[in-house]
Amino acid sequence: MDRLLVVGGRPLVGSVRISGAKNSALKLQAAALLAEGRSVIRNVPRIQDCGTMAEVLDHLGAAVAWDGDTFVVDARDVRPRETPYELVSRMRASILVLGPLLARFGEAHVAMPGGCNIGSRKIDLHLRGLERMGATFHQEHGVLHAKANRLHGAVINLDYPSVGATENVMMAGVAARGTTVIENAAREPELADLAAFLTAMGARIHGIGTPTIEIEGVDGFRPVEHRVIPDRIEAGTFAIAACATRGRVVLEGARADHLDLVLSKLAEVGADILTTGDGLAISMDRRPRAVDLVTLPYPGFPTDLQPQMMALLAAADGTSIVTENVFESRFMFVDELNRMGADIRTEGHHAVIRGVERLSAAPVRALDIRAGAAMVIAALSADGVSVVEDMYHVDRGYEDLEGKLAGLGASVRRERALEPTRAGA
Ligand code: EPZ
Repeated sequence: MDRLLVVGGRPLVGSVRISGAKNSALKLQAAALLAEGRSVIRNVPRIQDCGTMAEVLDHLGAAVAWDGDTFVVDARDVRPRETPYELVSRMRASILVLGPLLARFGEAHVAMPGGCNIGSRKIDLHLRGLERMGATFHQEHGVLHAKANRLHGAVINLDYPSVGATENVMMAGVAARGTTVIENAAREPELADLAAFLTAMGARIHGIGTPTIEIEGVDGFRPVEHRVIPDRIEAGTFAIAACATRGRVVLEGARADHLDLVLSKLAEVGADILTTGDGLAISMDRRPRAVDLVTLPYPGFPTDLQPQMMALLAAADGTSIVTENVFESRFMFVDELNRMGADIRTEGHHAVIRGVERLSAAPVRALDIRAGAAMVIAALSADGVSVVEDMYHVDRGYEDLEGKLAGLGASVRRERALEPTRAGA
């Protein structure tokens, strides 16, 4: 397990290029299964999860290749083979091959995803939506077997605007007979990127970005070339790190229109924010002000930036209240932050953060992608040298994090732990 040594107390200064969005690229890789030909997806972050999705496509018979951040996939010879637990357990987004495989072959066989450190991660909304379109499912030995003689359009009302459920239903609906309407659909920018990709392939989708998406099924999809949108969560992570270290950072390629609420929250905390020709500039020269935060589906404050904000607010001037509405257990990392001297109490969906003058360096763990990023931010602002263990979590979602931080003046070093790390006692 790799760990990251971080010297705290140095402001981040300079500019950093934001990579392509992980939570769009993964779905575009899956959507490429719809076309019997060679698609080219540019600006794909070279991170573990996109590598795992490439393995899933390869396992299904696609020809895949990388050329830097360009991913090429020829899905001509794809067959609906079983996607094994070994791959799905590494990355639950593998479940997003369900929609495209059902659309193209009328069948799919995918190992059921397990839970993860932030919650149960159910897929009931995915399955109920696809059932309304004529799919049937049965589970055996941990594998979900899906069949649909011919998917047909339906009106699907999502109990919750689930990103994944909206994506799976959309990737099935583009090939269903008739019209599919998704009510209470997710509105994240990554959905719009997926809809643009599918439309270029020949799909007919209306209402993306609103709660009601209407899809007219068509036959046959052509392979496409597409450039992934920038990663708003990576951009937000660096913006928060700039504030936590009282630095001045230019986020090259970041899109302010994907970060409205995040930027207004950081302004409330005391950051100066400018839009530049190609991105955003964030600077902070004072102790953060305490603010309250509520996470909600887009356009609400993104849950994927909640841990990073907690790390910033841990040393704010005052008391902040953070409410996590999206995942039922996304406060697991608070104990790690408290090891660094934070004063945070959690009660159900709420966390009360009493700002301390400064965090103090300590050995801590990354528990998931975003909690790990939060620990790195806390370490960058703390007094002393911290060690963040289990960096593989962070590597799943951030491309060359330490290289980008070092480029901003941070003093960080990755170490490959020799002895097996002590299991949590
Ligand atoms: C996507 O996960 C992202 N992952 C997550 O980012 C992100 O946190 C989440 O959307 C919310 O924005 C990818 O895009 C790969 P959901 P997803 O379906 O699609 C419940 C990261 O760090 N739910 O909107 O799984 C679910 O339990 C990751 O990059 C059901 O109950 O999110 C959760 O409480 C973490 N039944 C809530 O909805 C379902 O069938 C949000 O889930 C599906 C979801």
